[in-house]
Amino acid sequence: MTNDKRLPDDPEQVLLHIWSALEGGTKSHAPFNLLQFATVAYNGKPSVRTIVLRQFTRRLGELFFVTDAGSAKMSQLRSNNHVSLVGYDPATWTQIRLSGLASVSQDEDERLAQWNMLSTRTRRSFLPRDAGFRVDDQACEEGAGPQIQLSVPPAAFALVKVTLVTVELLDVSDEEHVQYNFNRADGTWSGNRSRD
Ligand SMILES: Cc1cc2nc3c(=O)[nH]c(=O)nc-3n(C[C@H](O)[C@H](O)[C@H](O)COP(=O)(O)O)c2cc1C
Repeated sequence: MTNDKRLPDDPEQVLLHIWSALEGGTKSHAPFNLLQFATVAYNGKPSVRTIVLRQFTRRLGELFFVTDAGSAKMSQLRSNNHVSLVGYDPATWTQIRLSGLASVSQDEDERLAQWNMLSTRTRRSFLPRDAGFRVDDQACEEGAGPQIQLSVPPAAFALVKVTLVTVELLDVSDEEHVQYNFNRADGTWSGNRSRD
């Protein structure tokens, strides 16, 4: 029997497939919208947590997520910016694993663009508890009252960029698992296919 879900043999085609999956992953509830993001703690131990993929830029091989500026992951990134991410799509039986270098965006336009794309609920989570907003506060949505605070990202809002260095796709849809590995060197991606 043939497995219709199998990816093409050509790694170049698979890389395009991965880029599409990551672009699609920026949509809420899409496969790979939630990724596990791993950092290295001060003591050299791994630390992992779930994040929401907010943007993927294929041309630059960069992904973005938002976080609290005071979170543990942010201080870990200051001492070691080597990171890894992984996600699994049960519908296609595929895992995507990424590694790269994280940096915190200081670009105010980029920060504002991401801030403006967040839901009111998520924006509110970055505001001081005593700001007096409710999740369903119509004024927030309509531009009245507290709009000024919602149109400028607060200090607690951090936009993290991960510049990808390696990308892997593991296809476990068949008995024989197939893995595709890609590396970026001098701005060019190269890859291969392996089985186990
Ligand atoms: C479904 C889900 C989505 C999450 N998305 C994010 C996110 O986009 N950014 C973030 O900083 N934390 C997110 N979290 C919370 C993190 O997993 C983590 O608990 C939190 O950021 C604290 O991590 P840290 O102490 O290692 O920094 C999410 C948690 C869940 C369950």
